[in-house]
Amino acid sequence: MNFDALRPLLDDICARMAAMPDRGTVASYIPELACIDPARFAMSICLPDGRQISVGDAKVEFSIQSVSKVFTLAIALGRYGDRFWSRVGREPSTHVFNSVQELEAREGIPPNPFVNSGAIATTDSLLVGATPKETLAEIVRFMRQAASDDAIFIDPQVAASEKETGDRNWALAYFLRSCGNLRHDCALTLGTYFHHCALAMTCEQLARAGRFLAGIHPDGNLIAPGHIRSINALMMTCGHYNGSGEFAYRVGVPAKSGVGGGILAVLPNRASIAVWSPGLDRYGNSLLGTQALEILSQDLGLSMF
Ligand code: DON
Repeated sequence: MNFDALRPLLDDICARMAAMPDRGTVASYIPELACIDPARFAMSICLPDGRQISVGDAKVEFSIQSVSKVFTLAIALGRYGDRFWSRVGREPSTHVFNSVQELEAREGIPPNPFVNSGAIATTDSLLVGATPKETLAEIVRFMRQAASDDAIFIDPQVAASEKETGDRNWALAYFLRSCGNLRHDCALTLGTYFHHCALAMTCEQLARAGRFLAGIHPDGNLIAPGHIRSINALMMTCGHYNGSGEFAYRVGVPAKSGVGGGILAVLPNRASIAVWSPGLDRYGNSLLGTQALEILSQDLGLSMF
């Protein structure tokens, strides 16, 4: 990827996004997220030679929410290897990301680790032999190493806000537990889950954190290459929930979204890209984040297809 050509392209994308009248809808089911300014937009790209190029609000923190699920999966795979898959499937979902119906249809085995039920089971697996505090410390440590940045923290207000209003996640946790797929108290597992979803990061930090998934981290492989391949496959097929087919069609690279409006996209061996725009589409994925990635992908021919 030509670094010099990237700057004008990103400036152009940023200007086009600023002019977009339809910016999607900011998530309101987590009250702390409802007040985020929908005019925000940022994009940041890390390249294999260590250079990073950013535009817009790339130094402004946002709630990474479900993007954190990529990192908890990386830790869980490192700990359990293939045994992890006895608790969570590897199939795309056809329902909304917090569907109870889909979990029931699969008798308590979540379709994949990125829908809420799958991520809650993943968090639960990380709590085996560790307290919530220790587990969260491990997640934050991993994130800081991945991003080469110690200034990454959990926003306790966002976590508390979701704890108060996350009834759907409580339903999912109790359902998992009723099927024998939750080893800890619902409150313990969900408390941990809400906190890692509440990680606050900038677009620049998130792009750097994704480098290990592209195989371009300066410290080498943070996790086994086989696990990198597995995570990328899941990001491609499940990273945008029931909108994953649409995202693959339009952008064509592995990526993971969050209701905070962030998307982390991976170009194996070439780049790690983070984009942030808080307004969401009907699937709960960033509306303009997807559009920006689509333009970038088309202009640079990034799609794998
Ligand atoms: O559990 C939730 O609903 C949120 N903490 C995370 C969901 C999410 O980010 C879905 N993404 N598009």
